[in-house]
Amino acid sequence: MAEVVIVKDSIEGGSVAAGLIARLVRRKPDAVLGLATGSTPLSTWQALAKLNLDLSKVRGFALDEYVGLPVGHPQSYRSVISREVVGPLRLTPEFVRVPADSGPLETAGDDYEQAIRDAGGVDLQVLGIGRTGHIGFNEPGSSLASLTRVKTLTEATRTDNARFFDSPDQVPTHCITQGLGTILRAKHLVLLAFGAAKAPALAGAVEGPVTSSLPGSVIQLHPNVTVIADEAAAAELKFADYYRNAWNSRLDWERD
Ligand code: F6R
Repeated sequence: MAEVVIVKDSIEGGSVAAGLIARLVRRKPDAVLGLATGSTPLSTWQALAKLNLDLSKVRGFALDEYVGLPVGHPQSYRSVISREVVGPLRLTPEFVRVPADSGPLETAGDDYEQAIRDAGGVDLQVLGIGRTGHIGFNEPGSSLASLTRVKTLTEATRTDNARFFDSPDQVPTHCITQGLGTILRAKHLVLLAFGAAKAPALAGAVEGPVTSSLPGSVIQLHPNVTVIADEAAAAELKFADYYRNAWNSRLDWERD
């Protein structure tokens, strides 16, 4: 079962997640981080920046990227990662990869898998979850064993992400995303969820059946998962009291 941490709000959640990343980087300065984009991880990057750690040796792999946006488009995940992660955290830009950032799209998935393997695998993967239950851009129906590949976005996800664009029709129809199998290979998954809109998807991911119809449920197959959710996102969790109790009664060595 995942460790589920229920927090007051996204600020507290970001600080818990930043603490996990900081602990990893203190132990392993060249740790490999899996980087999510979107609104959810922003408070984590902000909290991590405040810790003022030397992150210059950290390597990073973005979860996903839109297909079809011009290079340098402000909403491409390459731009978002540069602006919101690499800059504020003072990561070394050359150490941070985004899917399809070099070479032809046809082989970009295999190339990315190879690059992650060459880096020794992802140590800690930060994840958000979409209303459709997607993690990365693995929409419902994605194989639980899938690897990095090009996918078609659902209309629900395009509608949700329209807030980042001038008009809904500018949201790309395709993306390239790490697969669910890729995500499962990371050593530690940290899934963040904030706000009531995420409550059904989060409950399905944490406590529902493992099914490709709710891709986030694949986290139940991973041995080392931390879910950090605010009260609103946690509202539909059946075992919330147990999670709170387990978190509050952590043993000393679990609190470092
Ligand atoms: C982003 C990603 C997506 C988002 C999800 C939630 O790299 O892979 O799975 O995490 O769409 O988006 P927000 O955080 O904007 O609600």
